[in-house]
Amino acid sequence: MLIRVPALHDPLPSEITPRHAYLNRRDALAALGLAAASPLALAQVAPGGGKLPKLPGARSAVPGAMVMDKPTSYTDATSYNNFYEFGTDKADPASYAHTLKTRPWTVSIEGECAKPGRFDIETLLKLSAMEERLYRLRCVEGWSMVIPWVGYSLSELLKKAEPTSKAKYVEFTSLADKQQMPGVRSGVLDWPYVEGLRIDEAMHPLAMLVFGMYGEVLPNQNGAPLRVALPWKYGFKSAKSIVKIRFTEKEPVSSWTKAAQQEYGFYSNVNPNVPHPRWSQATERRIGEDGLFAKKRPTLMFNGYEAQVGQLYAGMDLKRNY
Ligand code: MTE
Repeated sequence: MLIRVPALHDPLPSEITPRHAYLNRRDALAALGLAAASPLALAQVAPGGGKLPKLPGARSAVPGAMVMDKPTSYTDATSYNNFYEFGTDKADPASYAHTLKTRPWTVSIEGECAKPGRFDIETLLKLSAMEERLYRLRCVEGWSMVIPWVGYSLSELLKKAEPTSKAKYVEFTSLADKQQMPGVRSGVLDWPYVEGLRIDEAMHPLAMLVFGMYGEVLPNQNGAPLRVALPWKYGFKSAKSIVKIRFTEKEPVSSWTKAAQQEYGFYSNVNPNVPHPRWSQATERRIGEDGLFAKKRPTLMFNGYEAQVGQLYAGMDLKRNY
């Protein structure tokens, strides 16, 4: 039985983009002629970006896809990363991921499906309409961010492969290339990085296949050229730089489960009531809110997405299935 904590879902007043600021942004875009040139430009919710090619997306209509929280700055979101293929320090991916070659890039779809195949990145970019979604990202380490991703529901791709009735799970595999990824030369994880979901989780509209952020293509350190984003799960469930998607009958074994089974369960739903064996998960530090007086935030059940995803876990003991 799930315990509902509705009060915790309400954003803090300081997190909400004031209506006048939102309208001003629309006006500024219109003044630049952007709004007229493309209705998609109106959808931009986040400030800034780098100098990467533009990748706009229409504001998503998927329920829960646009949280009201203030977006993390582009600088923070692209310089404080976990991408162990490029090193274990938070600054390593931004320093070393330029060696990743994101073209040509192919994703193979395999396993329990009627139409397995290989999709090149250009085809994937055109497979469905790009949407912008503002998602919370909660890392198991206790920090969080709010990122405007660009992409579409993962289900759009998965259903093209026509999974069979034996497809109970979906396994994601990231690229592991020692030439391009210096961290892969270390034994810190059992490479390649592997993660998995139950098929109904993967088919949930909030499970997103991501190609961009902040209105631009993904920077390498954030998982270019494509990754997943699962806003109700700890960040490590969202594999970066994916090269293989496999439908399986058996529960996939993730790299983190192999590394420390008692610490990283298969579900890894954000749950303030289940501490990590070495630390609490009850609060989080929002990156960008550092400072002497910055209070930690209470972590929300399912990271605040309980209304959308809670039913997927009805009847499950979430203390055992962590
Ligand atoms: N994917 C791969 N291939 N390698 C990784 O090390 N780290 C995970 C996840 N995906 C990781 C990965 C973790 S622990 C987190 S918190 C998120 O990516 C971080 O995503 P971000 O750097 O875009 O914020």
